[in-house]
Amino acid sequence: MQTNKPGVLVVDRVIQRIHTGVVRGHACRLKIAAPFLAVLLMADGCGDASNTDAEPFDPAKAAQVWNTADKTWDAEELEILESGKILYRGRCAGCHQLSGAGSTTIGAPALKGSAIARGSADILIRAVLFGRGSMPAFRNSLDNAGLARILSYVRNAWGNNMQEVVPVSRVVALRAAGN
Ligand code: HEC
Repeated sequence: MQTNKPGVLVVDRVIQRIHTGVVRGHACRLKIAAPFLAVLLMADGCGDASNTDAEPFDPAKAAQVWNTADKTWDAEELEILESGKILYRGRCAGCHQLSGAGSTTIGAPALKGSAIARGSADILIRAVLFGRGSMPAFRNSLDNAGLARILSYVRNAWGNNMQEVVPVSRVVALRAAGN
């Protein structure tokens, strides 16, 4: 490999490291310095979707967070919203922020109040499954239930307040229909 181009060498090393999977957490930090790399890294699954530090699901506590004057969620829905939040933290928040405010550095729009997040569930599902503009596709890294959980969270967090969970069956159908 040509070594007299430092930039190429660094990128190549980072990619090698990603492939070995050993320094994924470290690589994630690069996104602030190099937004284009963030896309690459997040597409590769940057961020840990596993739930090591989260508290066990507590329906009563979740009800306090999610129930409003207009909507009382059942325990199954509450579990979907809470697990969707954990998945969102690992898979989306690196670009869209935990607050849903997005990131101008990365060019990721706010999901809080987003017309797409709050619009047709089908269009939203397709955007995340197959990618949108510079946002990577998630069809290979999120299963149907996981994506439905994340989008259920996104559609109800931060005042998005759509008052429904996203049916897994829609994700199954749209995935099967293809891009
Ligand atoms: C690598 C950074 C990155 C990650 C990770 C990411 N996104 Fe995005 N997202 C973007 C960018 C950039 C756009 C703008 C795409 C465009 O329109 O060009 C975007 C756009 C969107 C939009 C459209 C919003 C609007 O109002 O225009 C939605 C919805 C969305 N993302 C949801 C998600 C969800 C859900 C996840 C997690 C599964 C996620 N994104 C993960 C970068 C990211």
